[in-house]
Amino acid sequence: MKNATDKEVNKVLMVFFSATGNTKKIADRIQQKLEGMEVKVTKYDITSYQERNKVLSLDEYDAIFFGFPIYSLRAPRVCREWLERQEGNDKLCSVFFTYGGFGKEPAHYYIKELLTERRFVLVSTAEFLGAHTFNYSGWQAAEGRPNQSDFEMTDDYAVQTLQKFRARDVKTVCDFEKVKYTSEQLDQAEQFRFHLIKQLPTRDDKACTMCMLCETLCPTNAMNALKGTADAEACIACFRCIANCPDSVLHTNDIAAAWENKLNMHQTTKKAIDQMKSQIFL
Ligand SMILES: Cc1cc2nc3c(=O)[nH]c(=O)nc-3n(C[C@H](O)[C@H](O)[C@H](O)COP(=O)(O)O)c2cc1C
Repeated sequence: MKNATDKEVNKVLMVFFSATGNTKKIADRIQQKLEGMEVKVTKYDITSYQERNKVLSLDEYDAIFFGFPIYSLRAPRVCREWLERQEGNDKLCSVFFTYGGFGKEPAHYYIKELLTERRFVLVSTAEFLGAHTFNYSGWQAAEGRPNQSDFEMTDDYAVQTLQKFRARDVKTVCDFEKVKYTSEQLDQAEQFRFHLIKQLPTRDDKACTMCMLCETLCPTNAMNALKGTADAEACIACFRCIANCPDSVLHTNDIAAAWENKLNMHQTTKKAIDQMKSQIFL
């Protein structure tokens, strides 16, 4: 519903990072919803390092959606580094996350802080459940998500955010409480994944057709298809290579044994995670 004082918002940019496809599914759904309301959406996928290194002009867009997975309680480091190079010039924006049903609060707080530093104006955020990346290695978190209820929430998010863009309504936005973890503590938490994923994506070379896709798609240029493994310094354990291998010959060590521990650490159960709902913050 438009008000007389509303500003035109007809061209929207959608910047997203998606290694295993969950965030892209939400981005696609937002695009579909907005285009149904005659808003043109241009998608810009920053998953590959080549795209992240291009200079992007934001001038021609009325507003921007950013979509990121949550990695170790925040937007992935490579996305934050990309954002640090952008100039917001008071452009209106919104951020949505996908996450695997564990920690997520600091992601909203820290993305707001970073976007404000870069002079973007945040009008809303949202979080959507997405099958946990580490399910490829034996976990069972948020399997089958995003699902129909997440997509319905996505539609609401798209509509409500568009209304806020048009009204330039930034009054109540995302008043996230100061989080209990400092950036330095979160940097340390980021390293924790390598305590679990001890063997980086590695090829079981029996059936490999050497298509090189793992190397081409790697977001950080870490994968070496000929060697059949990833560089330990550069790999961010995003599993893009594993998720997209047409021969299904890439794997890490099996972390199924760490699943119960993970649930206990978070004082939760598989059922509780499966029942979690996606949320919008206006
Ligand atoms: C390195 C890494 C760290 C992650 N950290 C978290 C986390 O802190 N909390 C959480 O709930 N999910 C976490 N996840 C799961 C992802 O946020 C989730 O699976 C997301 O939907 C993946 O998005 P994509 O399919 O677009 O890549 C992590 C995944 C990876 C690869």
